[in-house]
Parts: sequence; structure tokens; C-alpha cells
Amino acid sequence: MLRSFVSALCLVAGLAAQGLVLAQTAAAGAPAVQSANIMDVQPEASADPGYAKQSNGERAKVQPGNNAPMWRQVGSGVTGTSSLPKSEAPEAGNLIQPFVQYPGSRLTNAGEAWRQVRNNWLIPYGGSFLLIVLGAIAVFYWRVGTIKMHEPRTGRLIERFTPFERSAHMLNAAAFTVLAISGLVMAFGKYLILPVIGTTLFGWLAYVLKNAHNFAGPLFAVTLVVVIVTFIKDNFPAKGDLNWILKGGGMLGPHEIKSGRFNAGEKVVFWVGVFVLGLVGVASGLVLDKLVPGLTYERSTMQIAHMVHLASNTLMVVVFMGHIYLGTLGTEGALEAMSTGYVDETWAKEHHELWYDDVKAGRVPAKRADVGSVGVPPSIVQA
Ligand code: HEM
Repeated sequence: MLRSFVSALCLVAGLAAQGLVLAQTAAAGAPAVQSANIMDVQPEASADPGYAKQSNGERAKVQPGNNAPMWRQVGSGVTGTSSLPKSEAPEAGNLIQPFVQYPGSRLTNAGEAWRQVRNNWLIPYGGSFLLIVLGAIAVFYWRVGTIKMHEPRTGRLIERFTPFERSAHMLNAAAFTVLAISGLVMAFGKYLILPVIGTTLFGWLAYVLKNAHNFAGPLFAVTLVVVIVTFIKDNFPAKGDLNWILKGGGMLGPHEIKSGRFNAGEKVVFWVGVFVLGLVGVASGLVLDKLVPGLTYERSTMQIAHMVHLASNTLMVVVFMGHIYLGTLGTEGALEAMSTGYVDETWAKEHHELWYDDVKAGRVPAKRADVGSVGVPPSIVQA
């Protein structure tokens, strides 16, 4: 009872106030403004067959304040005119990129399509792939362990890598390590590190690593080309490679399958990891650095280069995880080859028998660089 009395009182007061405002407006000579629910304005407007095709001006006449046509046009990637020269500002007239469908994205404007490819595919599946391969390597090490030499060392050494080859490889490997660590933090740090160390520290970490990435990239590019030129000669397919692959190199058996200076597994690493993925990773990185002359750097150029860069380099890290494992923990004496340049005859015979035979037969010199190479006493070299 009391409640309805109060409501009635409010209604009367409200009407009186509104009457006062209207009276004042009329007195001032201005047309009376009537408030209205936008949903109630010409409700039949949307029933017009040409409703969806209306321009913003046409829509304003039937539904004042409804700017949907304008925003739909902006979102569709329409390019307007701009007085800025195309060479300096190629996308000045375009706010939102046109629609596109990248592999793995929906048909949507290019920025959103790129975001979908990165966040829905490259990051989750790339990250999972890295973890799976890391786990597989760990299991392999647990079950098989380090592949040891079966026979004792002879003490006679064969030169496997010249100081030039080792320097090129080491610089390249160092640049790769910086790129891989900084790249992985940029890709996955937001999910794995940021929640642990917080935004301030992670901001600094990402900033430092991003700059390290930019400096290590060109060093990797130059040394990659040197590595390719240096090692390509001994990585061409040879007789016996197919047999090596079909038998998995005999790595799990008592004897490895005979191979030349590099076995078929190493050749796959060379052609897939170093040559194809390395060059694609470097080329896309140089585009991202805007270092490739003659290219028009638009947002789509960067999006495509970024997707190629992330995909190819994730695969490259996968390939090199296997390479690094076999070159360190996985094979006794392999790291020695790269750090000193020399291997024992036993190692050469057990891992690369055809190469060993060539050296023994004098077809390949046992000593290719100057005596006294870094890390190896000259007396042993001549043994
Ligand atoms: C960062 C860690 C790395 C380590 C510990 C490592 C270790 C090694 C070792 C021990 C060898 C000698 C294998 C043998 O004697 O047969 C080797 C060979 C080789 N490495 Fe690496 N490496 C690394 C990174 C890289 C990178 C980043 C590249 C190139 C992108 C690379 C390219 C090569 C090539 C071309 C060979 C000669 C074998 C072949 O042609 O397949 N390595 N590495």
C-alpha cells in the first residue's frame, strides 16, 4: 500500500519535471527533443530488402545514429586515398587489412588471420612438438645411453675437421644457441616464464633477448653460408646411404652401417636442417629485419615472413636437438672431433668405416691442416 503510494508520488513528480523542461524548451523556441528507445525507431527499417547494402548516409536516414555500414566498410579492409607517397607509406590509406585466409585461419582480416595461425597452431603445436622430441631424446638416452667405442683407442689420430671448419661451425653453433634460446623465450615465455617471474622482470628479459636475437641473426646468416660451402662437398648422396637409412644406421645393433666421412643421418641434418630450414629461417629473418632490398614492407609481408620464420625455425630447433644430442651426450668421441679436430682411428673405423678406408688407402689425407692445430699436441698428430 505504502509502496504504491510512493510510486505514484514519483510518477507525478517525474511528469511535472518533464513538463517543466518541455515548457522551458518551448519557451526558448527550440523544437522539443523526445527521448526514444533506439530499438523502437522505425522498426521496419531493417525489413527493407536493401537494408544490408545501405551506405552510411542511407542508414542515417532510416536509423539515425546507426554507423554499422561505415564500420563494416572499415573492417572489410577497404583502402582509401592518402596523399602520402606509396613508396614511403605503402599502407597509409588502409586502417584494417583486407580479408584473407592463411592456412589454418578462418577467412577474416589479415591481422586476425595471422593471429589465429600463430596462437592456434604454431605456438601450441610447435611447442608440443618440441616437448615430444625432447622427451623422445631423453627416453633414447635412458634406454640406449651413450654409444661407446667397442674397441680400445689406438692412439693414432686422424684429422676430421680443420681449424677453419671448426671455427665456422663453432661460431654458427654459438649464434644458433643465442637465437634458439631468445626465440623460444619470445614464443613461449609468455606462457611459461612470465607467470613465474612477473611482468617487470619478464619485460626486461624479453627486451634483452630480443636485441640479442637481432644481433645473433646476421652472425648466424654469415656463418651458415660458410658452413654450407665448407661441408657441402662431403654431404652429397653416395652409394650406401639408402642402406644406412633403411637399417637406421645400425645404431641399435652391435655395428654401425658403413658410411663415408658423413653418414646418411648427418646428410639429412645437413640438407634438411642446415640447407633448407637454415636458409628459409635466415631469409625470413632478414625480411623481418627489413634488410632485404627492393621489397615493399607491408603488414602482410611481415605476417607471412613471421609465420614462415616461426614454423621453419621451430623445425630447425627440432632437427638440431637431435644433432646436438648425438654430437655431445649421444656418441663418445664426437664432441672431441669438433673441439680438437681429431679422432682416434678406432672412432673413425667404428663410425665412418668407408672414410677410414679412404684415409688408410691414402685417397683422403689423414692430416689436412697445419701440424699443431689448436688443442692437439703435434706429437700426437703425427702418430
Ligand atoms: C649448438 C650446438 C651444436 C653442437 C654441440 C654441435 C656438435 C657437432 C659435432 C660434435 C659435430 C661432429 C660430428 C661428426 O664428427 O660426425 C658436428 C658436425 C656438424 N654440425 Fe654441428 N653442432 C651444433 C650446432 C650446429 C649448427 C647450428 C649447425 C648448422 C646450422 C651445425 C652444422 C653441422 C654440420 C654441417 C656438421 C658436419 C656434419 C654434417 O655435414 O652433417 N651444427 N656438430
